[in-house]
Order: sequence, then structure tokens, then C-alpha cells
Amino acid sequence: MRRRFFLANWKMNVTVREARVLAAALRDRIDAVILQACEVVIAPPMLAMPTLAQELAGSRIAIAGANMYCEDKGPFTGEVSASMLKEVGASYVLIGHSERRDLFHEDDGLINRKLKAALRDGLTPVLCVGEHADERDAGRVLEVVLGQLQRGLDEIDGSRLAQVVVAYEPVWAVGTGRTAQPQAAELVHGSIRSGLGDLCGRNAARRVRIVYGGSVTPTNAAAYLSQPDIDGLMVGAASLDPDSFVQILKAGTVRT
Ligand code: PGA
Repeated sequence: MRRRFFLANWKMNVTVREARVLAAALRDRIDAVILQACEVVIAPPMLAMPTLAQELAGSRIAIAGANMYCEDKGPFTGEVSASMLKEVGASYVLIGHSERRDLFHEDDGLINRKLKAALRDGLTPVLCVGEHADERDAGRVLEVVLGQLQRGLDEIDGSRLAQVVVAYEPVWAVGTGRTAQPQAAELVHGSIRSGLGDLCGRNAARRVRIVYGGSVTPTNAAAYLSQPDIDGLMVGAASLDPDSFVQILKAGTVRT
């Protein structure tokens, strides 16, 4: 059985001081039952990572970088490497979030180089994929998502692929309050799993966690989690409220 995976994506929404307060509130409320059933990861603004590492030490809540560059060091002003993220406590890194793709023009080639660098340096990548509204309306969801998956994972050894977490986030649902129907999301998750099967074999693909994201709330979390190929949730706005995020995690402790 795949262990459920929950990621709080705080984006650029908290200062270092606020991140400390939020992390402490979560540490106090995320209990052993939740941690038994779910892997819990927080992606804070990068400046807050050392503070989070301190605040969460010994708690089993993990930390993710929200982004990274694909080189280890050098003249890349404003960027950070996988090894730098590791040094400040990250074990995961988000790669190819739709905000990175759209606002910062990241393409699948760069995303692929970042994935390789993350795996090389011992970080677990969370590869984000998802279609835009016009692509959905044109009936191109699977073509877009499976294309992102294939190009993102190009030339990555099949034996490494089972480690990667895939996040399906329809772009039109991120930060909008609009949500995909759980059955429609399940269809995409199932197709992602068969796509992974072609890349790394059925057995490895069965082990990959594929999580859903896009306007997840305590109200809709359980409906997504009841789908067989939805292995967890990536949560933006609702993760900034400790009560909401903990309620979502509690939904993760129930297996239907
Ligand atoms: P949202 O963000 O939950 O606010 O829609 C999700 C995400 O960007 O991962």
C-alpha cells in the first residue's frame, strides 16, 4: 500500500517569523495517528527553511524546497542548488509547479534537468503537471499531462522513477476555488500511472505516489482521497490555516 503524501505549499505567503509560528502550530497538532498514515511535508518560502528545520526537528514533518536550479554552483544569480537545499534541511523539492512554468517560463527541458540534479544530489522531486483551461476545453488533458510527464522524466533511469512523487494540478484549479471532479481527477491519475508503467515498468509505477492539487479544502479532501489512484494532496491556500490543514490530514488517516 502506498503511504499517503501531503504537501503544504506556502508559496510566497509568509515571512520567516510567520513561518515559525505556523510551523509550531502544525507541529503541535499533527499527531502520531496522522504521521503513521501520512507523510507530511511543508514547502515554505526558502528563507524560512533553516527556521523550519529548527522548529520541526525531531517531529517527522519533512521540508521541501519550493524550487531549485539544475547546476550545483556557479554564476546563476538568485538561484539555489539541490545541495544547498539539503544543507538547510530539505528532503524534497517541488519541480515544475504551474506558477514556475507560467510566470517564470520554465519548460520541460529545464524541468528535466532539475529533476536529474535533484535525484543526483539525494532530494526526492515532486514533479508537478497539469493542463490549462483552454487545453481542458479542447479535450487535450491527457495529451498535455502525459507529454509533461514524459519530457520531464526523459532519460531518467527507471529504477529511480519509483522515488519521484507526481503532483497532478490542473492549472485552472490552482488558487481559484474551482476544483476538478474527483472522478475526472482519478482518470488522469490512472493515466499517469499507466504512463509511468511504460517508462519504468508496472511494478515500479504501482509504488509511485500521485497526488492531487488545486483548491483542496477540508470539505473536498476526502472525496479525492477515496479515489484509488489519488495518493495524497498538495495544498496551497488551505495549508496556511493550521486547523484546515490538520483537518485535511485527518481525512488522510481514513481508508475507505
Ligand atoms: P491552492 O494551491 O490549494 O491554493 O489551489 C495549490 C498549489 O499550488 O499547490
